[in-house]
Amino acid sequence: MSATFERELGQAMRVAREAGALLQENFGKSQEVEYKGRIDLVTEMDHRSEELIIGRLRAAFPGDGFWAEERGREAGTGQSDRVWIIDPLDGTVNYAHEYPVFSVSLALQVAGELVAGAVYNPLLDDMYAARKGGGATLNGQQRRGSKVDKLEQALLATGFGYDVGSEPDPEKNNLGPFARFIRVAQAVRRAGSAALAIAKVGVGRTDGFWEGGLRPWDMAAAMVVVGEGGGLLTDYTGAAPDLGGRQLIATNRRIHEEMLLVLAAGVHGTRTT
Ligand code: IPD
Ligand code: CA
Repeated sequence: MSATFERELGQAMRVAREAGALLQENFGKSQEVEYKGRIDLVTEMDHRSEELIIGRLRAAFPGDGFWAEERGREAGTGQSDRVWIIDPLDGTVNYAHEYPVFSVSLALQVAGELVAGAVYNPLLDDMYAARKGGGATLNGQQRRGSKVDKLEQALLATGFGYDVGSEPDPEKNNLGPFARFIRVAQAVRRAGSAALAIAKVGVGRTDGFWEGGLRPWDMAAAMVVVGEGGGLLTDYTGAAPDLGGRQLIATNRRIHEEMLLVLAAGVHGTRTT
């Protein structure tokens, strides 16, 4: 693939900013909330942001396909196999509670490969972006993953899927890995927007991330940022991550092996502390 995807990334950033502005304008205003599950909710702003994003991207790139959190999949009509993977509001529970951590996440996948990604935090006006071969940027400045090489000096982030209350297996509901990591890392954060938490690894703001309950739109765009920032992305076994596989470890590369060991300790019963 020789394309640079500069135009696509530029457009993704513009659209993410526009959707972010819409979310910011309505932040703190009462929202109509529907429940998709016991905890999993959707506000009218998830829908409005998604409509705006798809409308703008469709106008710029007619023929492209879409895979969006609320609408689901829509095949493209163009000849090339291009799909935009969209989280119109990552951090919906936060947003509904006026907790100031949320983002807009847009990725482009071409023939199965993630080639561009933009994750935008409107409240801080922070744009994490990357395209294949172009490096990772934060607000237009080139950035790399951190140089931290020990878990005990690492700031990690994670998240919990919406089934945390109903899934009894601590390895699956993440309480097991969380308990182990919090003892061995410098600190662990759970801020409520996976896209932002993963993207931070690519620009060196944090050192590692893991989660086992992710959907493709939570991780796709931020994975491009981590890869282009020199980081490493795998599933919990150390294999290449699968967008549909729910699991992701994203690191600055230097602490990856240690994170894999801590995750495996729950499966093999090895002590890590
Ligand atoms: C959720 C957030 C959360 C993560 C969940 C996601 P949503 O996305 O990214 O941090 O732990 O797994 O589902 O529902 O706010 O778009
Ligand atoms: Ca999400």
